[in-house]
Amino acid sequence: MSLALIAAQSENRVIGRGSEIPWRVKGEQALFKRITMNGVLVMGRKTFESIGRPLPGRVTVIVTRNPAFSADGCEVATSLEDALAVARGYERTVFIAGGGELYEQSIHQADALHLTTIHTVADGDVLFPEVPDTYRLVSEELFESNINYTYRYYENEI
Ligand SMILES: NC(=O)c1ccc[n+]([C@@H]2O[C@H](COP(=O)([O-])OP(=O)(O)OC[C@H]3O[C@@H](n4cnc5c(N)ncnc54)[C@H](OP(=O)(O)O)[C@@H]3O)[C@@H](O)[C@H]2O)c1
Repeated sequence: MSLALIAAQSENRVIGRGSEIPWRVKGEQALFKRITMNGVLVMGRKTFESIGRPLPGRVTVIVTRNPAFSADGCEVATSLEDALAVARGYERTVFIAGGGELYEQSIHQADALHLTTIHTVADGDVLFPEVPDTYRLVSEELFESNINYTYRYYENEI
């Protein structure tokens, strides 16, 4: 079962400020929904808490070191490895949906990357990692919106 990262970054690689995403871009969330629908989302506890609920039509697996953590309608795992094992049990596409810690720990082992670049320079403290040079650009598409953005799809040739 393939493992893909999905993220939206600013031109200066910001993905978050505190617990928030520092932009609102019309259409970008619809793109996320279309790509991830019916899949499994693996996310860090901080990202889950900023969303606050499982997203409809997708399985949510939350990664936390706190063994007492629970959230209605979600799976919980205490390591990335356990989270991926739970996620793969569903036999659906598995997405790492953030945040910075999860992307950093998984980018070298993932098979693919859905990376949207929002064409703005954002102020924030959580960054997307450098894309390793094993990633090959497969496709890109520019979208015009209140802030324009480019969606790029990469495959990791590991
Ligand atoms: N732009 C985007 O595409 C995008 C997408 C997602 C999130 N974000 C943003 O990213 C930010 C959050 O990212 P973040 O890096 O601060 O946090 P995060 O990756 O969402 O969550 C970090 C937490 O995950 C748990 N964790 C991480 N690695 C683990 C491991 N190996 N084993 C067990 N638990 C592990 C820990 O939870 P415990 O502390 O509970 O142990 C850790 O505190 C927010 O600003 C959010 O809005 C942006």
